[in-house]
Amino acid sequence: MPGGALAEVSATNDVNKTEAPITWKAYFMCAFAAFGGIYFGYDSGYINGVKGMAYFIHQQTGKPYPGPNPSDEEKAAFALEAWRDSLITSILSAGTFFGAIIAGDVADFIGRRLTIIAGCTVFLIGVILQTASAGLGLLVAGRLIAGFGVGFVSAIIILYMSECSPKKIRGAVVSGYQFAITIGLLLAACVDYGTQNRMDTGSYRIPIALQMLWALFLGLGIAFLPDSPRYFVKRGKLDKAADSLARLRGQPVNSDYVQHELAEIVANHEYELQVVPQGTYWSSWANCFKGGLSKPSSNLRRTILGTSMQMMQQWTGVNFIFYFGTTFFTQLGTINNPFLISLITTLVNVCSTPISFWTIERFGRRPLLIWGALGMLICEFLVAIMGTVDGDNPATVRAMIAFICIYIFFFASTWGPGAWVVIGEIFPLPIRSRGVGLSTASNWLWNCIITVITPYLVNPDKAYLQAKVFFLWGALCTVCFVYAYLLVPETKGLSLEQVDKMMEETTPRTSSRWVPHTTFAAELGMTEKGTLAPEIVEDVERKGSVV
Ligand code: BGC
Repeated sequence: MPGGALAEVSATNDVNKTEAPITWKAYFMCAFAAFGGIYFGYDSGYINGVKGMAYFIHQQTGKPYPGPNPSDEEKAAFALEAWRDSLITSILSAGTFFGAIIAGDVADFIGRRLTIIAGCTVFLIGVILQTASAGLGLLVAGRLIAGFGVGFVSAIIILYMSECSPKKIRGAVVSGYQFAITIGLLLAACVDYGTQNRMDTGSYRIPIALQMLWALFLGLGIAFLPDSPRYFVKRGKLDKAADSLARLRGQPVNSDYVQHELAEIVANHEYELQVVPQGTYWSSWANCFKGGLSKPSSNLRRTILGTSMQMMQQWTGVNFIFYFGTTFFTQLGTINNPFLISLITTLVNVCSTPISFWTIERFGRRPLLIWGALGMLICEFLVAIMGTVDGDNPATVRAMIAFICIYIFFFASTWGPGAWVVIGEIFPLPIRSRGVGLSTASNWLWNCIITVITPYLVNPDKAYLQAKVFFLWGALCTVCFVYAYLLVPETKGLSLEQVDKMMEETTPRTSSRWVPHTTFAAELGMTEKGTLAPEIVEDVERKGSVV
């Protein structure tokens, strides 16, 4: 046996005895990582305000400041050129896209926790470069590097939280990450608001430099937490997996709860390795795309589900409100303070997200995604119709804003958290880190595509769709509705190993009726003493040690 091996792991065939009761400490330990969402939200949010700051525009472009009472043309001319604007915004997504894909590999190699710490370090370097910048070059380089760090953190936090959380609260814990994203967006809007009128480098340096706090807090805090027990099983370090589970569940290492949960993770991993054997580095990547399209539980289907889930989340059109909201509300006319309306939508986003902590565990992922898409598409079509038919009437515009807020409410309480929860749950351990990385990369890719395309849809010198753009978002949300109904399985209340079994035995539409009926340990082999068959333990330890 390799060093640090476990002599034996006691197992059970009782599906209800595979996890310890939840303690507050366990809750806190699993939820701490959600803090990383602040990064995501703040980093994608702060740049919008900075790009509109007079000092920043002047410094970047050399354009003279407009006079005391500028005409509309003067105001419009005093802005970043389209290429510069697009480069500064989208370079972050390029970094995050590649960061998220690579992060999966790194997380299997050095562990989930160290990958998050590495992500924080890379991010800090990127932020220091951006803070020091006084022109385009360093700013873009800094955003690319910081984006890389955000990619690491945003993918691996989902993985870490999903793998560490007890099954009953996993959805709520991962929704905490979405809550942190919304707080990050709000903080960015507030800090930008506070520094926008400064006529020195503090206007952009303060919002940029503040991000270092989030990185330091997350990186230092997570250093005190155990790594994911499932990571240790993957690496064949079962003794460490047992220690980690004991800490996370607040139980002694030799308690039946810890042992039984470990036995399930080990037996499930062994099972998965039998179905799709691990090979070289490249063939293990290829495993993410194996198993064919017709089988709902195949690796290929899961990879498509995860990546398309994040694509659909972007297709709901939510970032149209967060990235282009101010411009859109200005175009609606009859509104005195578009910034205020943007602040209100950001606040609705923050306040509605915690509802999902309860609903995602009470009703499940599937109903939330189905009903959420329905709610959003109705609001979007209403906004489109009202704006097209009677868009010049102030009363109609007020009603449109109300429906946009209800739309945000639906997003924040359903698809916002739901998409992250689902991608953390659907992949089997051998491909989980890569699957989550690819899905997160898809979020950033579509985020970027939509950010690049939208100006062409709404700018006055381009398609200038105004409220009609909501017909497009409504149509895409209708696709989300059908997608959720046909393709998303119910994963509520199941351990990640039980999710694996459920996906094999059901279709998405029958999944919510599935209940666990046997344990992996009982299926693969238990001794008469009630321990996991030693050959399984040895096999997982041996294979893990050569990853
Ligand atoms: C999405 C982001 C979005 C944010 C809004 C996240 O789940 O992935 O693109 O800006 O929610 O709260």
